[in-house]
Amino acid sequence: MTARCRAWLSERLSTDNILMMSSCTQALEASIQLAGLCPGEEVIIPSFSHPSAANAVLLAKGTVVFTEVEPVHLTLDPLSLERHITSRTRAVIVVHYGGISCDMDSIMAIARRHDLVVIEDCAQSFLSQYKQQMTGTIGHFGCFSFHGTKDVVAGEGGALLVNDDRFVQTARTYHQKGTNRNAFENGTVNYYEWVSAGSSCSPGELSMALLLAQLETSEEILNRHCQLFDRYFRHFSDLPGNPMTSRLLGCSSPRPGCSGNGHLFYLLLQQAEDAENLISFLSVRHIDARNHFVPLHESLFGQQFIRQENQFSTELNIGQRLVRLPVFSDMTDSEQSYVIDTVDQFLCQSNGAQEHKP
Ligand SMILES: Cc1ncc(COP(=O)(O)O)c(C=O)c1O
Repeated sequence: MTARCRAWLSERLSTDNILMMSSCTQALEASIQLAGLCPGEEVIIPSFSHPSAANAVLLAKGTVVFTEVEPVHLTLDPLSLERHITSRTRAVIVVHYGGISCDMDSIMAIARRHDLVVIEDCAQSFLSQYKQQMTGTIGHFGCFSFHGTKDVVAGEGGALLVNDDRFVQTARTYHQKGTNRNAFENGTVNYYEWVSAGSSCSPGELSMALLLAQLETSEEILNRHCQLFDRYFRHFSDLPGNPMTSRLLGCSSPRPGCSGNGHLFYLLLQQAEDAENLISFLSVRHIDARNHFVPLHESLFGQQFIRQENQFSTELNIGQRLVRLPVFSDMTDSEQSYVIDTVDQFLCQSNGAQEHKP
């Protein structure tokens, strides 16, 4: 099953250098190890992201450096990236937030200028494209998640794309507990042995059986997500600036020339209180809406990594101001209409903080 998932991904992403992993977290950790991060070297990550990228750096005894996200797509801001680079910077981990790709041309140009390793966190961007390229195939490494909260799921599962030939052989060894088991399986050696540091990365066959069935219907799943995203976008992108809905600051939006995967659709409210009120307004009407990441620098643990150069104006309370609306593949058009109408009702109320039972 693992081999069949690998073959499916290999064909779809047009690469041979793909390793099935037990999670995206593990793929991120492997990327940092394979990049050869030395203790004290710096890795830049957006503060508005999942802790797994930061943990991968800390576990390798590297230094986490936060950077800002751009206000429109909430993906790593290339201008901010450049501001945080020092002589100790080794790598950058970019996150294609909500399935919308980062500005990869700018990021790759900066990375080339400063000789940085680029790791793409594609946990949310399976089959999204940046221009004509699949996310995960552009940087040196691409890390995918098939966790139960993603669009295509294995319960727990992930994949690592190794896009730079320099890292391919070490990645295979690392993946096989630091042994040359691959060579043994190919019949090129008679026994396998310990050849370097490595880990146990392979997912379980049962998870991969589930994933294979999901991969085979993934176009269908993602097409539906994209339809739902497009309809939400057509509706809500017109509202910011409208005095009737002044509490709405913005919403998810596609990056021009790129195609997302409809992983999520969010509304961005003026105040954390507005978002909280919207979530409870929807909840009593049986609509499950959620906030998202608490920016890493706002956590007690993350505060130690804040630097003087950090600005964090877009990130201020973003986790609490953002509301994700339901997106799931068997959501019907009438369910979506109900969500849209209910959100409109909230936004148009002059005092939306008041709770009215339906
Ligand atoms: C952006 C991002 N990175 C990494 C992860 C971790 O993925 P996994 O659960 O497969 O380790 C997640 C999971 O939510 C995520 O959203």
